[in-house]
Amino acid sequence: MQTKKIPLDITKATTSRLAEVDFDNLVFGKYYTDHMMVCDYENGKWNTPKIMPYGPLSVEPSCKAFHYGQAIFEGMKAFKDENGKVWLFRPEENFNRANISCKRMAMPEFPKEYFFEALETLLKLDEAWIKAGDGNSLYIRPFVIATENGVSASPSSAYKFMIICCPAKAYYSSPVKVTIAQKYSRSADGGVGYAKAAGNYGASFYPTNLAKEKGYQQVIWTDASTHQYLEEAGTMNVFFRINNTLITAPTSDRILDGITRKSLIKLAQDQGLQVEIRRITVSELVDAAKNGSLKEMFGAGTAATIAPIEGFEYNGDYYELPEVKDAYSQYLKKSLQDIQYNRAEDKFGWRYEI
Ligand code: COI
Repeated sequence: MQTKKIPLDITKATTSRLAEVDFDNLVFGKYYTDHMMVCDYENGKWNTPKIMPYGPLSVEPSCKAFHYGQAIFEGMKAFKDENGKVWLFRPEENFNRANISCKRMAMPEFPKEYFFEALETLLKLDEAWIKAGDGNSLYIRPFVIATENGVSASPSSAYKFMIICCPAKAYYSSPVKVTIAQKYSRSADGGVGYAKAAGNYGASFYPTNLAKEKGYQQVIWTDASTHQYLEEAGTMNVFFRINNTLITAPTSDRILDGITRKSLIKLAQDQGLQVEIRRITVSELVDAAKNGSLKEMFGAGTAATIAPIEGFEYNGDYYELPEVKDAYSQYLKKSLQDIQYNRAEDKFGWRYEI
């Protein structure tokens, strides 16, 4: 991707914390690399992006992100191949989605050349934090917060666009059990469900905690008005395999346009699997579970990659999925990871070399 080179203000860390990290027992999101990117928006423009040692920020207690949740984020990953080369997966999609989210939250859009220049510089500086080998990656968290001081309920005039990175392995280490939402909702028509607005996630924590108390790791959200249509899980989009057809809900203003979701749809179609992008009701799912045609369910997201679902709860009944041979989830995960780790032809131009 050709973007205009722009100057960065770089301060390198004098020591590294890399040796403190236990890569065999990584906890997702706990350890951050030595550097971060910070770019301030003031007086109607983005200043020169700064790359600096990872560390605390200084913002005033009245800053608007704290009071009105004017904040968005992205999730992306870098992978190291067996020759030590580093690759991003579809970073332009994350960049575009960040700006879609910013627009919805009345925040200024970020310039593309700043994003790519800063990201590449950051990854080159912290390259040693990226481990090669299946399942290893560097999770990259770009985010934007409103930093103007003052609690008047109006959009901020100051922001920070930042990028921090943490080494990551699988988000879910084993198949998950889910419950289907019957009371709470993640998003509503005309709302911010399609944006990666921080509050979408914060708002899901309480119902997710209730689900966890009952032994379910995730909630599958349904539409807010009828609770009849299956939409997405809080940390991932969701796929259902009924007989040999893979079904996932269409994106809408309530559902996140997941990059893993759209990559899997493309890979599945390219490999001749039957894919239906259509609304699917809870009763269709329950019927399919009862008559044995529901073969698989899995979540798809950047952090989660592909997370198999072993069963779901609805109306007090638990439906366990059968063990399937040649699971689509495993097959698609391999196809996706072969591209991400530079082991397969990049037919769709998804890899981005650092
Ligand atoms: C991601 O997959 O990058 C996400 O944003 C999910 C996150 C809440 C862990």
